[in-house]
Amino acid sequence: MTSKIMNWLDERLGLTEIYDSILDRKVPKVNFWFTLGSLSLFLFVIQGITGVFLMIYYVPSPDHAFESVEYIMNGVAFGWLIRGIHHWGASLMVLIVFIHMLRTFFTASYKFPREFTWMTGVILLLSTLGMGFTGYLLPWNQRSYWATTVGTEIAGTVPLIGDFITRVLRGGEDLSAVTLTRFFAVHVWFLPAIIIAVIGIHMYMIIRLGESSIPKEEE
Ligand code: HEM
Repeated sequence: MTSKIMNWLDERLGLTEIYDSILDRKVPKVNFWFTLGSLSLFLFVIQGITGVFLMIYYVPSPDHAFESVEYIMNGVAFGWLIRGIHHWGASLMVLIVFIHMLRTFFTASYKFPREFTWMTGVILLLSTLGMGFTGYLLPWNQRSYWATTVGTEIAGTVPLIGDFITRVLRGGEDLSAVTLTRFFAVHVWFLPAIIIAVIGIHMYMIIRLGESSIPKEEE
């Protein structure tokens, strides 16, 4: 019965083809360093899942943000664990994405025909860093407040448009409730939407072109 249903669906949706091209595709003989893209993807999924759980209790307003994080740590069952994973996972993801980029650089995987895969990777790296920057403010404690003050100040050193960038980031002259809601929106909606879409393109390119192999000495 189940196999009948599966066959019926397969004929219409091409499930076998999807399975073959995603999970059963041929890969060259590679090593550990070629698995870090998949690890980046895994970490992104973990960040997404723990982030959704944190959002149940987190309140993005200056009056309640700090207390809501305290409550997650001390009042919610396993809240400390979920926040801990999200907190350390963020740093780990930046590190792993960076090493993944270095790997594709050193194996020259950015060359034809994979230039576009590299370009989408650049967007993923910048978005991952953006997630770290916007997430850091959310606990609204002294450290996050002053780190964001300094970070947005640094953005202000860009020639000509620096002041404008600082004001757009802060939503005014100084950090305020506007900054917090702005960073929250970018952290939970804008950047995740960009990352999901761009990972889709990145993965499509990898499936379409296949993975590169370790360059030989004479190459
Ligand atoms: C969220 C971030 C990222 C995710 C989830 C991701 C995911 C992946 C995955 C699963 C692969 C397959 C091979 C492997 O696992 O190593 C891959 C390959 C590749 N990635 Fe990424 N990646 C990310 C960021 C980047 C960045 C920052 C760059 C460079 C700027 C980049 C450039 C490439 C290139 C050129 C390939 C092709 C490698 C080959 O064919 O050997 N990726 N990526």
